[in-house]
Amino acid sequence: MAKKIEAIIREEKLDDVKDALRAIGIVGMNAFPVEGHGRQGGIVLAGRSGTYQIDMLPRIQLNIVLSDHNLDKTIRTIIESARTGTDAGDGLIFVYPVEDVVRIRTGEHGQEALTYEGDIDSRLAYYFAPPASRKPLPGEAGLEEPAGVEPAKPGGFFSRWGRR
Ligand SMILES: Nc1ncnc2c1ncn2[C@@H]1O[C@H](COP(=O)(O)OP(=O)(O)OP(=O)(O)O)[C@@H](O)[C@H]1O
Ligand SMILES: [Mg+2]
Repeated sequence: MAKKIEAIIREEKLDDVKDALRAIGIVGMNAFPVEGHGRQGGIVLAGRSGTYQIDMLPRIQLNIVLSDHNLDKTIRTIIESARTGTDAGDGLIFVYPVEDVVRIRTGEHGQEALTYEGDIDSRLAYYFAPPASRKPLPGEAGLEEPAGVEPAKPGGFFSRWGRR
């Protein structure tokens, strides 16, 4: 049903990544600062009295729980917006399966609890609805059309919006 992305990114890339995700309609997320290192084990800095090692570097952990069918596009978007072209340290993306999502206010479970007004799924629903039954898209105008999406399978998640 859903996956969780844990993206460890550079602090200075957070705004670019958030903007890129918003442009494709990823709405729900959270982030917090983390310290760690990857395979280089940190960095070596040169000071006046010699060199010293910093083994725990600051990064941002961005967490996104999203529908399975949005995973590839979201990962591609994070890669494109978080990459700097330097030789190390642009981060990693971990992906986990998610058992369930529950919205506390309403008690909704699963996909119901994971769809937000104006998000990538509500736009896909618009796109797959028969033109006559389309209601204006909620949310920001002028956002990227959901082009290149995999058509949903009949009877799947989008069927309740009347895809034919
Ligand atoms: N195996 C791991 N488990 C948990 N967190 C990790 C792991 N590896 C790296 N991290 C976190 O991800 C951050 C970014 O890692 P980093 O970009 O250096 O990855 P890398 O595998 O060393 O790739 P690169 O060769 O591009 O540097 C680290 O600072 C650390 O916070
Ligand atoms: Mg590294």
